[in-house]
Amino acid sequence: MSTITVLIVCFLFTSAHSVSFETSRRLFNDLTENDTKYIRPVLNQSHAVDVHVSVRAYNLKMFDVTLGKFSLLSSFLFDWKDEYKKWDPRKYDGLRKIHLPKSNVWVPNILIENSADLTAILTNDNSHFELEVMNDGRISMSVPAVFEVLCEPNIQKYPFDEHECAIVFTN
Ligand SMILES: *[C@@H]1O[C@H](CO)[C@@H](O)[C@H](O)[C@H]1NC(C)=O
Ligand SMILES: *[C@@H]1O[C@H](CO)[C@@H](O)[C@H](O)[C@H]1NC(C)=O
Repeated sequence: MSTITVLIVCFLFTSAHSVSFETSRRLFNDLTENDTKYIRPVLNQSHAVDVHVSVRAYNLKMFDVTLGKFSLLSSFLFDWKDEYKKWDPRKYDGLRKIHLPKSNVWVPNILIENSADLTAILTNDNSHFELEVMNDGRISMSVPAVFEVLCEPNIQKYPFDEHECAIVFTN
């Protein structure tokens, strides 16, 4: 049996305010003028950047009990705070949210430690996801991914078996 799954990702660009193109461009330019993706976005460089991860699983594509691995179609949502991406909405016609390309902005380098293959590098340089940035500096990044994870199955109670599999993130 083969299953084909199509993942459709929609980004909806909506705004409650009518903000002009000029204002959006001014904010974009102001936020990105000193961009460097190689320096962690904390004023005090000895502070850590806390990155939160949540996972939405859409589809278990495969669970191989003999090899002890499963693959999952899912979407990861990362969010963190960038202390250099804050602005006062009053100076930008009330604009509180903007999308930035991730090419020049610091993003966490996350990979799945117990992955069974190399596609588990979730946020590498080749991916072109957009970042959603709020005026308090909170950035969120959604990454759709299909990945394989190693998982020791316990089939003693087969066919009423339950499995607990961990996804281990690292950077
Ligand atoms: C970029 O750097 C200039 C010069 O240091 C500074 O005046 C400006 O506020 C910086 N912009 C941002 C968004 O940090
Ligand atoms: C940066 O943070 C460290 C650890 O919290 C602290 O000891 C240090 O004084 C801070 N540096 C500045 C310039 O605030």
